[in-house]
Amino acid sequence: MSDTSIDAVRNLLLLRYETLETKSDILKAPELKQLFAKIPTLAPGDRGEFGKAINALSQELKQKVATDTVTVDDRTPIDVSASMDVNALIPSLLSSEQGTIHPLSQEITNLSAIFSRMGFAIEESREIDDQYHMFESVNFPKDHPARDDYDTFMTVETDDNGDPLIAPAHTSTMQNRMLRKYKSNLENNEAISVVIPDRVFRNEDLDARHEHTFYQVEGMYVAKDVHAGMLIATLQEFLQEYYGQQLEVRVNPFYFPFTEPSFEFMLSCPFCNGEDENCKVCSGEGWIELLGCGMIHPNVLKMADVDPTIYTGFAFGCGVDRLVMMKHAIEDVRHFHSAKLDFLRQF
Ligand code: PHE
Repeated sequence: MSDTSIDAVRNLLLLRYETLETKSDILKAPELKQLFAKIPTLAPGDRGEFGKAINALSQELKQKVATDTVTVDDRTPIDVSASMDVNALIPSLLSSEQGTIHPLSQEITNLSAIFSRMGFAIEESREIDDQYHMFESVNFPKDHPARDDYDTFMTVETDDNGDPLIAPAHTSTMQNRMLRKYKSNLENNEAISVVIPDRVFRNEDLDARHEHTFYQVEGMYVAKDVHAGMLIATLQEFLQEYYGQQLEVRVNPFYFPFTEPSFEFMLSCPFCNGEDENCKVCSGEGWIELLGCGMIHPNVLKMADVDPTIYTGFAFGCGVDRLVMMKHAIEDVRHFHSAKLDFLRQF
């Protein structure tokens, strides 16, 4: 028997393999046994090569069975709390020529470029995080009632403390990590200045202004002698760049556990200018809440081993969808995830 007979058996077995319900049955195929039985019948000089070829075939089949019958629990677990780029190694399925870039992606690129020119580093957030980063590290003690303001989605998986992991409800989950990552800037007399645009999730009642999945851009600036005037000026500068015009803004006192003082930043409604009491976008209020911001609470700095007696900073968390809605006069936030091509093709 020559190598061609091994090839013939190989082709036959590979075909049969596809039809088998129990894949490991292929290793018991009589054709394979017959090949092994042939070895002693060959001239001694031919046995070595023939034996090797059968072994190679047998190895190939074992490998195939092992790969195809791997159970979920045998797989290397992915790091669910890692940032996107660690896990997103799968090649894209659709050629980029067949689609257009989603308006939110376009605008995230756009706003990142503005912040980058203003000297901010750009970082990614996570789509699953632990309770420490969602709450404790940003000064929500356990059982604090302000936790209820963030209607989160929990997973059945738990973190090291046995608490359910969370689909983050804001990008402030990254504050502690960013303070730690860039702390050496402070030692070198440079500021920590970073923005984190990413996806967040809330268990919302859906309407024209509320989606369960949306985007925020978190900003942080920490150095010596930072004050609230710098926060307002930074945001105004950004908004002016982004919209290419000065818009009317209003700053109201507000409450967040992780900033003190805290503010909400409102933009005048470009749809009705406050003149339509039935306006779907601003509910007739004339103003749209665009972002929350404030001076970083000393406890948040302490939690990351940054000395609040030496350094101060500001933070903001801006709703990207609302920013984009106002730029392109989009009246309903639900268009973004509707996958409606007549909407998407306009961008
Ligand atoms: N994380 C807040 C929210 O989503 C916004 C915010 C960020 C407020 C940073 C202050 C400072 O509601």
